[in-house]
Amino acid sequence: MSRSTLSEPLRRAVRQNARTLQLLGVDFVPMRASPAESPAAAAELEPKPALFSPAPEAGTIEVRPPRPASAAAPAPSSPAAAAGKLAPQHAAELLEELRQRYEREAPHSRFVTDHHSIVFGEGDPCARLMFIGEAPGAEEDRTGRPFVGRAGQLLDKMINAMGLAREQVYIANVLKTRPPNNATPTSDECAACAPFLYEQIMIIRPEVIVTLGLPASRTLLNSMESMGALRGRWWTFRPPAPLLAAAPGGQGLGTGWTVPIMPTYHPAFLLRSYTTENRQKVWADLRLAMERLGLATASTGLTANSPGEEG
Ligand code: URA
Repeated sequence: MSRSTLSEPLRRAVRQNARTLQLLGVDFVPMRASPAESPAAAAELEPKPALFSPAPEAGTIEVRPPRPASAAAPAPSSPAAAAGKLAPQHAAELLEELRQRYEREAPHSRFVTDHHSIVFGEGDPCARLMFIGEAPGAEEDRTGRPFVGRAGQLLDKMINAMGLAREQVYIANVLKTRPPNNATPTSDECAACAPFLYEQIMIIRPEVIVTLGLPASRTLLNSMESMGALRGRWWTFRPPAPLLAAAPGGQGLGTGWTVPIMPTYHPAFLLRSYTTENRQKVWADLRLAMERLGLATASTGLTANSPGEEG
């Protein structure tokens, strides 16, 4: 985009975002048509108070504003990957049936909880990308929605930095109820709830899962390695064979059906330990997920080494 087409506030916002993205280790930003080619894109780039916030405070990251799902660049679909997907309506119905079965069976009644709501998960029932955390916190318990507290706001920014909107992915937790004092779920608690998570995955059939933090990563990978050892490389989720054969969500999936997993640090850990190094590690993990999904191909020229937007 040429400098002459940008208003001063917008140039300031672009500079600010570029600096923050550099800090994160981001070396490109996925982009749609340039404003010159698309009046709609130009209109969207106009500064909006709610989107271009003042200078970021320490402990926050600033990325491009979220795009509404309808305006977001559609994630590229590969016919091979799409072939195994359920129709959206069918997937949504199966997810609702699974939620009701979870309520009836209430696996959380086997352990101590501090919950008012069941936070089952939300997002596109046919999402190509799924994020999985450990358990709802206070805000999630209050609203019944996953990742809506501080960690959730950071997760939203991570999703937006990938060029996606929250509505385009599916977000769930291993535990669907809040543990007392936000305690880290035990492996027994995770094991009690895992079959429901596995079935959620088999209904949504994502092409990539990003696990957030140790409980989710260990539950899906059946590994006891540390987060530092797990993150940054590809792993494979294999649903237990009996579940794959018997669960409604597993119907139509071959016995060898698997999903690639990229484990990364939990956003709550990032908030507690907000170092450039940790942010760069998380961004590197998300980049690997983007590459796998074919999302990492375009470049705006807004790169860490390209201060072309600096005024
Ligand atoms: N942390 C999680 O693991 N999940 C949530 O939904 C919120 C915070």
